[in-house]
Amino acid sequence: MALSRRTFSALAGSAALGFALGGSGGPGAPAAYAARSVPTGPAPAAPRADGRRHTIGYDHHSLVVDGRRLVVWSGELHPFRLPSPSLWRDVLEKMRGHGYNTVSIYVAWNYHSPAPGEYDFTGVRDLDLFLRTAAETGLYVILRPGPYINAEVDAGGFPGWLTATEGAARGTDPTYLGHVDQWLTAVNRIVRRHQHTDGGGTVLLYQIENEYDGHVTDPSGPAYMSHLYKKVRADGIDVPLFHNDKGRNGYWIPGSFDTGGERGKWLYGFDGYPSPSQPPPDWGDFGIGGLKGGATASPRTPGFVPEYGGGWFDPWGGVEFGGKGYAESRRTRDAAYERRFYLTNLANGLTLHNVYMTFGGTTWGWLPAPVVYTSYDYGAAIDEARNVTTKIAPMHQLGHLLQRVPDFAKLDRAADVHVAGLKTYHLTNPDTQAHVYVLRNDGADEVTSTLRTADGDDVELTVAGHDARLVTTGLSLGRRKLRYCTAQPMFVLTAGRQDIALFTGRYGEMAHLVLECPAEPLVQRVDPEAAWVYDQGVLHVTAPLGKGGLTRVLVQRGESDTPLLLLFADDATSVRLFPYDTPSGTLLVYGPALLRHAKLDGSAVHLTGDIVGASGVEVWGPRGITSVTWNGQPVRTRVTVSESLVALARMPAAPRPALPELTGWRRKTENPEAAAGFDDSAWQTADKKTSFSTTAVPAGRPVLFADDYGFHYGDVWYRARIEGGIEDLESVSLAYSTGTQGMLMAWLDGVPLGSHRMPVPDAKTVRKGSWTATAEFSADGLRKKLRKKQRRKPEHVLSVLVRRMQHDMDGGSLDTHKAARGLTDVSFKGVSPKVSWRIQGAAAPDPVRGPQNNGGLYGEREGWHLPGFADGGWEPVTLPRSDEGMGVTWYRTGFRLSVPGGVDASVGLVLEDDPARAYRVQIFLNGWNLGQYVNDVGPQHTFVLPNGILRTRGANTLALAVLADGTSEAGPGVVRLELLGSAVGGVPVTSVDSPGR
Ligand code: GAL
Repeated sequence: MALSRRTFSALAGSAALGFALGGSGGPGAPAAYAARSVPTGPAPAAPRADGRRHTIGYDHHSLVVDGRRLVVWSGELHPFRLPSPSLWRDVLEKMRGHGYNTVSIYVAWNYHSPAPGEYDFTGVRDLDLFLRTAAETGLYVILRPGPYINAEVDAGGFPGWLTATEGAARGTDPTYLGHVDQWLTAVNRIVRRHQHTDGGGTVLLYQIENEYDGHVTDPSGPAYMSHLYKKVRADGIDVPLFHNDKGRNGYWIPGSFDTGGERGKWLYGFDGYPSPSQPPPDWGDFGIGGLKGGATASPRTPGFVPEYGGGWFDPWGGVEFGGKGYAESRRTRDAAYERRFYLTNLANGLTLHNVYMTFGGTTWGWLPAPVVYTSYDYGAAIDEARNVTTKIAPMHQLGHLLQRVPDFAKLDRAADVHVAGLKTYHLTNPDTQAHVYVLRNDGADEVTSTLRTADGDDVELTVAGHDARLVTTGLSLGRRKLRYCTAQPMFVLTAGRQDIALFTGRYGEMAHLVLECPAEPLVQRVDPEAAWVYDQGVLHVTAPLGKGGLTRVLVQRGESDTPLLLLFADDATSVRLFPYDTPSGTLLVYGPALLRHAKLDGSAVHLTGDIVGASGVEVWGPRGITSVTWNGQPVRTRVTVSESLVALARMPAAPRPALPELTGWRRKTENPEAAAGFDDSAWQTADKKTSFSTTAVPAGRPVLFADDYGFHYGDVWYRARIEGGIEDLESVSLAYSTGTQGMLMAWLDGVPLGSHRMPVPDAKTVRKGSWTATAEFSADGLRKKLRKKQRRKPEHVLSVLVRRMQHDMDGGSLDTHKAARGLTDVSFKGVSPKVSWRIQGAAAPDPVRGPQNNGGLYGEREGWHLPGFADGGWEPVTLPRSDEGMGVTWYRTGFRLSVPGGVDASVGLVLEDDPARAYRVQIFLNGWNLGQYVNDVGPQHTFVLPNGILRTRGANTLALAVLADGTSEAGPGVVRLELLGSAVGGVPVTSVDSPGR
């Protein structure tokens, strides 16, 4: 905003008004509970596993840790969606550097439990390691182990084996609760060691259940919640517990179920995924007009959103984003969306805020719910390839602000303010009298308007269409006081003998800052862009944002001997500014893409972090610092007027390592199971008569549901021995149930009957539950293919391969995860033979990669996906391919990478082909099932290969299992590697164990 003459004099004239309107409460403001006893003051220091006891309390305004107010600024990340433990540290450090103080995680029961009573917390499932890493990174953890989580994972997180057990889930059925208790025991044994309360770690809060509303129809709901609560407490978890209420119904507020007499350790939380095309909702305490639900449901606990949409998932076919995939999710919920919606949340008094997702990751193997494809990028601030996107800017700016400017942890609603064209929220801190205004533009066009502050200043502001702006007045900037600033404060800190305050806004804007200065200060321009005027006790500074990178203005003397360095940055510049606390004082580092760590050692400061584009480095810190190292290398610096050390030369951009072409392919077809003579004697007989599934067992016929025979993931084979001639056979009907994208192929005596697939979902059908269909194969074609003599034979074999997708989730607590998977009924028209069935799914779960890694394809059972498999006898081929016919074919090749040491390259595998071709590919890298590509459905073509599983300096084995339904020619088409990101820095990556056999 440019400062007009008229505004300028009006401002100067109003200075004498002071804080006449200061103080809390305004018309309609809700009462504040007990909050005043906890004064506004610095937030607790970044948490770590320090072995000390810490208290976690709360009042109406915020959490209170060790007597200090804490605003929780959290991001959701699922360790199970990043199957390379070293990379957890990478993402956590990116979050920490960019302003988050908390990470929220689901712990998926199915990921850790291959069988009843078996719990695996090793390797990629090492929860203890995750919690240690979070503590080492200085992040609090919100732990969410279900038992039900939803999360677009198979059965909403319930283990496959639970789908075949007795008793209704998500209620008080004793069999179900017995299993739940075992799970919680296993999780809590680990979590107990990492609670912040006793200093073992940084676990701050713990969620039971998720979006549970089964009590609406099931009167035992409260008893179920009570059971979970007491079980978790009995396991020694003593941090506050909470639940995540869907739809802001006020479900599970304190007192709504029996907590065994314990009071004051239960929080109410609700989630929200508002449409980005509607104005942000008022779901907190301070909503203006039409308050309903949300935080108002529980006025004595702080406003808490355990999940707030930071993107959205994309179903198969790309139906959510018009086939454009997650780039479109990121575009529709961009940085302006975040500002507009999250500032509204702040204005609504929500001080525990978790963005779902902050890093979405990959739903690898058979882990995704049937609705979604492999990538769970979510359009999050950090993309699936671990690149920090432009969405990080609001998170970074608000996160650092909420941690470093304590006024925001205790805000009350203040007198309504009207600003033409902008929805305005007005809040104030009762202790400091700082005022906070959130001005939101719900229209498409830019609005310039005037805010009359509580001090009587008229502040002219411009807010872009569909954006919002935070304006504060009365903030302490170290020893001086801010009258107001049109740009948003990002932090105030003291480094050495100087106070530093940073203000941020959009590129090209003019920031106007007014500082109270009873005595005229000495102002020094460090960069050429800024201008200032001193008039009647106030200093007006104007600075254009972003044009020259960072703009620095040094304010000295006046009423304080301590200089105040004012910094002004646009979004892109602000995300390269990292405040960092060390035991000997606070540092501010400017320049690199990421600051991971800083250490002070005498006069030297040692920095580690990432460089992406060419960048300089500048450091402000405690007095006496004279030298800087970056990633272990000395940096030549000079001292600046603003008392920083700045590098004399820029560090070069990260190299973009070359990736090899994928050649040397070998090919082999499989499905011997289709042949009449295949030996299936080791397969299980499928002759059960009853099932706990919600799918009905056809009268007089056997249960064919795969889960009832212990096959819970991936493909499943059936072979039926048919006794009796089939000369009069008219048709075979195969009823099956798979979830979206399922398909089957059938053979009779080795002769293809045909294939069938579930229809490609559209926006209406994609979320529909369990996909069922009946494939009817007429015998006409068969008569031509099978000679009469063969048809007359007394015994025949029907072979069926079902690509069963995963289990439905159980969001409605209706046991929908128990809908059958696989064949559900088979009947023959024209003949009534005696039929006996055998079934085969995955072999025993891979002991390292886990149960969701494999289904029951022949190649998988024989280890064709594993790196040590000898494929020397396979046919050498080149890609792309055009093959005819129905069935399963494998392709294998190896490739070596030699990414330079110290470079963090993120690599993807890209598959492309004519979209008319009906085939799908299961992708195995070094034996790990990294996803499913459906060529004619999409939209995913790029599959992230996480480092650790991917050897970036060494040999890799790629295996592709191609299922062709025979209705068109099949590929693979083009298969290539692509560089998705590159940084100098990163974290040390330990290879993920990938047994060869
Ligand atoms: C929420 C749910 C999450 C996830 C999300 C959509 O309602 O709690 O687990 O499913 O929706 O991504």
